Amino acid sequence: MFRKYRRFLKGLSTNWVGTAGVVLTTSAFVLFIFMEALRLLGIVTNAYVGLISYMVLPGLFLLGLALIPVGWWIYRKGTGRSTAELLSERFDPEILQPKATGSRLVATIAVLTLVNVLFLGAGGARMLHFMDEPVFCGTACHRVMHPEWITYQDSPHARVKCVGCHVGEGAEALVDAKLNGLWQIVSATFDLYERPIPTPVHQLRPARETCEKCHWPDKFHGSRVKTFPRFGFDRESTPSYTALSLKIGSGTGEQRGEIHWHVAEANEVRYASRNDERETMLWVEVRKGDDFWRFTNRKIEQEETGAVRTMDCVDCHNRATHVYEDPERAIDERIHRGELDLSIPYLKREALAALTSGYADTAAATAGIRNALTGVYARRFRAETAALQESIEDAVGVLQALYRRNVHPLMNVSWNPYPDHRGHRGGSGCFRCHNPDLVDAYGEPIPYDCTLCHSFLSYDSSAPFAFLEAPDSTSADFSMHAYLRDEFLRSASR
Ligand code: HEC
Ligand code: HEC
Ligand code: HEC
Ligand code: HEC
Ligand code: HEC
Repeated sequence: MFRKYRRFLKGLSTNWVGTAGVVLTTSAFVLFIFMEALRLLGIVTNAYVGLISYMVLPGLFLLGLALIPVGWWIYRKGTGRSTAELLSERFDPEILQPKATGSRLVATIAVLTLVNVLFLGAGGARMLHFMDEPVFCGTACHRVMHPEWITYQDSPHARVKCVGCHVGEGAEALVDAKLNGLWQIVSATFDLYERPIPTPVHQLRPARETCEKCHWPDKFHGSRVKTFPRFGFDRESTPSYTALSLKIGSGTGEQRGEIHWHVAEANEVRYASRNDERETMLWVEVRKGDDFWRFTNRKIEQEETGAVRTMDCVDCHNRATHVYEDPERAIDERIHRGELDLSIPYLKREALAALTSGYADTAAATAGIRNALTGVYARRFRAETAALQESIEDAVGVLQALYRRNVHPLMNVSWNPYPDHRGHRGGSGCFRCHNPDLVDAYGEPIPYDCTLCHSFLSYDSSAPFAFLEAPDSTSADFSMHAYLRDEFLRSASR
């Protein structure tokens, strides 16, 4: 059997083109089976190996298949003889013998074609499946997706596949994404992509097909207490706290004044923005059943137009997964979590200086952060910090990790490259719409008073419990229900 197959292959190896075809096809096939075995046994899991076995090998296999007839054609032209003559010369007479059902050559080719189709089909299916794996999306194009891959692994969605948000369900989504993916492979190969990758991502699937498969928009209710700890630049890095009770309900029915109202089943908020960048709004309109009202930007000429977008989760949660940190906030948070030792003098000031002194690349930063931090404490605070060597050493490690997590020089991603639309830092986020410029027909703006979206439990106070110190305060900020206070105490004691 094997001898016959070998002779058959030899018959196809008419000249170097045909031989190359045979060698390519056979070795791609054998290698594929081999790699697949290694992968099934769990010996290799690397994305590049997957990329080679699912894209390159079937490609080489096809190329080989195409070369064989080309080789034959050249061979036939070169010899100037008829196909029948050449066939009987190159192949076993046995294989050519006509049987009742036709020549065996035809049968052999038919069987081999079937094997090819099965092989390519199985390879293709495995490839599509593999391309859905986050490790493929995150690492196959090497540095292109590096920032997103790193931030993804450190996010609440680290167990959600990239395609769960970026592709969505159904055949149409799949085809769209693969076509898009082809372009991405081309641009990654020829270095045509922008750095950092620009946002907003216009091809993101609608949130109804992605986020809403797991989060149910009408089911948000109650409030969420969130504490924002800050540390000072003084010797003690004195803490101060702002604590908010965010009104995260969806305000369904007649109830109003809640954050997820925009995406509740009954409501639709649409808008157009300058250059479709979703930063400066041209107009915003609300549809609610038969009701309809519209706000226009009084600072913008109304001739300006932009694509109309229906607001969804991503208009606020644009950083639900790829969360890049601001250096100062990141340090505040690490101190708050106890990862940095507050007994180090001028901890906040020196940590921030070491972290942000402008390094050329990650290697320079790794060395630079160590030199800066250990240097300053050895030079200026030697006596006081002799006993704190271990804490300083830990701090070096924490800061180096912070740098690696957030800064990706190869993609021009430096500190905090993308705006976060969840709050209103720098006047962006919610204030893109909730501001005095967007007004309705009566000149009334979209509301923006400071307690529309949150109550203040404390503001820049020495303790997040500030409201407890003024329990009988009559100010609106402090007037909260007892259950809210309990909820806050529970969350603060966690
Ligand atoms: C939970 C949903 C979710 C998952 C999972 C997810 N992403 Fe994203 N991704 C988003 C959203 C939302 C945006 C921001 C869109 C915007 O700003 O317009 C985004 C943006 C991006 C961008 C554009 C640059 C940027 O940082 O905004 C890239 C590239 C990207 N994602 C790649 C990935 C890769 C690779 C994975 C898997 C390793 C992944 N994403 C997993 C939701 C997700
Ligand atoms: C496959 C399911 C799934 C999908 C799809 C998904 N999420 Fe989530 N999301 C989760 C889970 C599970 C958590 C809770 C994680 C935890 O508690 O650590 C979560 C948490 C969150 C949180 C809270 C994060 C925090 O810091 O507390 C937000 C906000 C969020 N998701 C928004 C989104 C948005 C926006 C999308 C679409 C772009 C999305 N999710 C898509 C499963 C999903
Ligand atoms: C694209 C524009 C837009 C953005 C961005 C936006 N909103 Fe709104 N929001 C509106 C509009 C329009 C209304 C309805 C105002 C009205 O008719 O009174 C509204 C209403 C609200 C309400 C009151 C809901 C109710 O029941 O009346 C809250 C609370 C709210 N938004 C919170 C937020 C928060 C928090 C953010 C940022 C995380 C935000 N919004 C971002 C457009 C926006
Ligand atoms: C108008 C802006 C806005 C829109 C639109 C929006 N969210 Fe939110 N969402 C917020 C804010 C603000 C919070 C408060 C929590 C925070 O700041 O981390 C929040 C909190 C959450 C949380 C955490 C809730 C908790 O109990 O802690 C989840 C999950 C979430 N959103 C998912 C979604 C999903 C899914 C959608 C789309 C259906 C969506 N959000 C649409 C602004 C928005
Ligand atoms: C349209 C809704 C909305 C309005 C109006 C609003 N806020 Fe906020 N604010 C938010 C949300 C949402 C967050 C939470 C951001 C986050 O989770 O990071 C926030 C966070 C904050 C924080 C903590 C932020 C930080 O990073 O330290 C402060 C302080 C604050 N708001 C003050 C104000 C003041 C003052 C006003 C009135 C001028 C105001 N807010 C009006 C939605 C709003």
